[in-house]
Amino acid sequence: MAAGKGTRLKSKHPKVLHEIGGKPILAHVIATAEKVVPARDIFVIIGHEAERVREAVAGTGVNFVLQAEQRGTGHALMVARDALLGNGNKYDQVIVLSGDAPMITAETIRKLSDFHTAQKADMTVLSADLDNPYGYGRVIRKGARVLAIVEEKSATPQQKKIREINSGFYAFAAPALYEHIDRLSTANAHGEYYLTDMAGVFHQARKKVVAIKTSDAGEVLGSNTRAEMMMLDARLRLAKCRQLLEQGVTIFFTHTCVIDSDVEVGADTVIEPFVQLLGHTKIGEDCRIRSYSVIRNSVIGERVTVRPGTIMEDSRVGAGAVLGPYTHMRPGSEVGEGAHVGNFVETKKVKLGKGSKANHLSYLGDAEIGEDVNIGAGTITCNYDGVKKHKTVIEDGAFIGSDSTLVAPVTIGRGAYVAAASCITEDVPADALALGRARQSVKEGWAREKREAQKQNGR
Ligand code: UD1
Ligand code: CA
Repeated sequence: MAAGKGTRLKSKHPKVLHEIGGKPILAHVIATAEKVVPARDIFVIIGHEAERVREAVAGTGVNFVLQAEQRGTGHALMVARDALLGNGNKYDQVIVLSGDAPMITAETIRKLSDFHTAQKADMTVLSADLDNPYGYGRVIRKGARVLAIVEEKSATPQQKKIREINSGFYAFAAPALYEHIDRLSTANAHGEYYLTDMAGVFHQARKKVVAIKTSDAGEVLGSNTRAEMMMLDARLRLAKCRQLLEQGVTIFFTHTCVIDSDVEVGADTVIEPFVQLLGHTKIGEDCRIRSYSVIRNSVIGERVTVRPGTIMEDSRVGAGAVLGPYTHMRPGSEVGEGAHVGNFVETKKVKLGKGSKANHLSYLGDAEIGEDVNIGAGTITCNYDGVKKHKTVIEDGAFIGSDSTLVAPVTIGRGAYVAAASCITEDVPADALALGRARQSVKEGWAREKREAQKQNGR
């Protein structure tokens, strides 16, 4: 179920697309569901901002059911009737997951399903004992049987004391669900069709409703408010750090690091405090990622040193390279094995070959730079003429003197030298020296004469 608006978030964006652990809440739920059944057996009920939600998770190959008007969780399942029982789909058992409860594990979903099957139940509620059950539906039991689920708003003071809550995850016998679902009504505090009321409906119809408690209450937590969301985010990230520690990664001050769920890091890599590793970043073994670096969707080889304050997005770095401090690698930067990209160097759509060095204060954009090239301090590729971007090619072994501007399109040939402070507007052939600067002139004694003149004028 992912059709709700998420009113309590006070957000323009649908609740299930808010991110925790670096990806939409709904994407977590789908990824877990996919560990239990194939995507073709997953139906995502969408409604509020349906197209945005569909687009965000369409890549998973799941099915969608449109709940155009969101009249409650019971209504969401009513709308799914044809998808689940029609079209040649005849499911015996339907497992209902909440699109806003991302901590659930595949193991728990399987336990719920197996328990439901073993009990031959019509409805099985996944429940949990919470220290603070406020806001959740409460499970009203008589022994092993569930008589009803009462929402917070409708609960009596006595019922509010019950600590066993409804997780919003259920297993249903599909035929029984759809035989009885039309008995739900909107006669409640919100004027909605509550799926939770199916417990009472079934109980009255002498159908079997049971509950199975999770051992880890943390798995069923929902994200109805920003505060809840941030708490889940912190839990997910801590779990991610623990997983990496388990795999041989050193992480200092784990609580200061922000590591997204899908990030991979090799053993013996050291992550210093206040590092962010985001998206689909992959880091090899024996690297050191120093403080304040923010790395998104990038692939880093083995033995790479990332010095403090390095920002990297959609880039690749070869083994043994050294980056930073304060290197800014924008999308499409590829740094070869053993290359160095240093202080305040900005790169974009650049290939920097094996062993090449750009150590200080440069802008390298739309460039193909070969192996063992030395890019002097302050070198700038002038890639933009105000309308179009142009390419700079620097061949193997070339040496670019400090403070040079290379006006693209331009090629510096293999092994060529560019004199410091040159403005290069034409191609430089291999092994040549190019000077593109004014010749220096010297006026002997000029400074002394100026000082003496100033003294005589009493200044
Ligand atoms: C629901 C349960 C509550 C349980 C809690 C667990 C009901 C009435 N209450 O409350 O007993 O303790 O989950 O987290 O079910 N949705 C739709 N269509 C709708 C309405 C909601 O698809 O018309 C989706 C939402 O997007 C959300 C999920 O259903 O992903 C749950 O809805 P939500 O409004 O968050 O229910 P809760 O108030 O949390
Ligand atoms: Ca919820």
